[in-house]
Amino acid sequence: MILITGGTGFIGSHIAVACLAAGKQVVLFDNLSNSNIEIIDTLEKITHQQVSFIRGDVLDQDLLTTTMQDFGVDEVIHCAGLKSVPESVDNPLRYYLNNVQGSLCLLRAMQTCEVKTIVFSSSATVYGMPSYLPYDEAHPTNPMNPYGSTKLHVEQMLRELAQSDHSMKIMCLRYFNPVGAHESGLIGENPKGIPNNLMPYITRVAQGELPYLNIYGTDYPTKDGTGERDYIHVMDLAEGHVMALDYLKSHPGYGVVNLGTGRPYTVFDLVNTFQEISGKTIPYEIAPRRNGDLSSYFANPSLAKQIMGYETKRDLKSMCASAWSFQNQLDIQ
Ligand code: NAD
Ligand code: UD1
Repeated sequence: MILITGGTGFIGSHIAVACLAAGKQVVLFDNLSNSNIEIIDTLEKITHQQVSFIRGDVLDQDLLTTTMQDFGVDEVIHCAGLKSVPESVDNPLRYYLNNVQGSLCLLRAMQTCEVKTIVFSSSATVYGMPSYLPYDEAHPTNPMNPYGSTKLHVEQMLRELAQSDHSMKIMCLRYFNPVGAHESGLIGENPKGIPNNLMPYITRVAQGELPYLNIYGTDYPTKDGTGERDYIHVMDLAEGHVMALDYLKSHPGYGVVNLGTGRPYTVFDLVNTFQEISGKTIPYEIAPRRNGDLSSYFANPSLAKQIMGYETKRDLKSMCASAWSFQNQLDIQ
């Protein structure tokens, strides 16, 4: 039985689908601070299976412990966390409490219940300013904001835990830029308020909710001057977690693995591909560079392939098409 913290969130819900599709059993644990309970019904509709859910906070160690005991949990995927970079700059202590202390409570509950396996949602943001690209897992880590620091602190805590207990099976997955939605279009990324990230912003412009896209900088040293990122389809990302759990079964210890495609795309690549698949025009305005943005970053994905045979399957068109399909479903509801 897999406990998925943050299981009703964007990535956690897609991981739940991937786990159920692989014949695994899951219980979702979430305080609903950034997601909705309705997602459980939607997951049941997609998977035709019953989905167990506990509303709770990862800071509540007792509730985590009873949940693990009641459901016979033996593996954990830890997605619960706060993820806004600007919010973390304004309120770092909230981020340390939720992301670091929350992870500590989870690990202590796991210790009580003798649960040894955990896959952690880390981020490529731990690398910071690139010394070289693509980032491989040996690249130095130097997060540029409190959000990134909390991810690195949790990674360090997990590494030290694995050093103290050789039966632990731990993998930190460093996500690049997850976008898109499940092929059904029923679940996806639905940020509250005005989106910070590029893909949800584009879908809202396409749908007419926002007038135009701001393109933050056209003077970067990239092929068209706009920022380059390694966008990864959220279902590819989700399937990586299933493969990570399978790998850990026979590989105790601690590891860090990038989840990306290795192929960078610019803002204009995304806009053009989105226009092509949706038939919509995305009006845009050129704006100054966004504070804290990097010009370019992308993954060296070879370790994931080497150790667990992981390769992404879905291309940029599929990322745009599924994101657009999800936006359209939202409008119907
Ligand atoms: P999300 O906000 O959609 O999902 C996170 C979920 O965790 C939400 O449902 C929220 O309600 C829940 N949550 C937050 N704090 C909690 C707490 N204290 N107790 C219980 N539940 C809590 O975000 P997401 O995009 O699905 O991200 C999932 C994880 O992946 C996060 O840890 C995030 O930092 C990490 N990550 C995300 C991205 C990305 O681009 N989305 C990139 C790299 C890493
Ligand atoms: C941001 C976060 C990163 C997080 C990631 C999740 C910052 C500094 N970084 O990264 O920690 O892991 O989201 O996917 O916030 N862009 C526009 N217009 C927009 C929005 C974005 O031009 O309205 C551009 C950006 O300048 C960037 C690219 O699109 O070049 C991607 O931006 P975004 O989706 O926000 O992701 P990141 O900046 O990579």
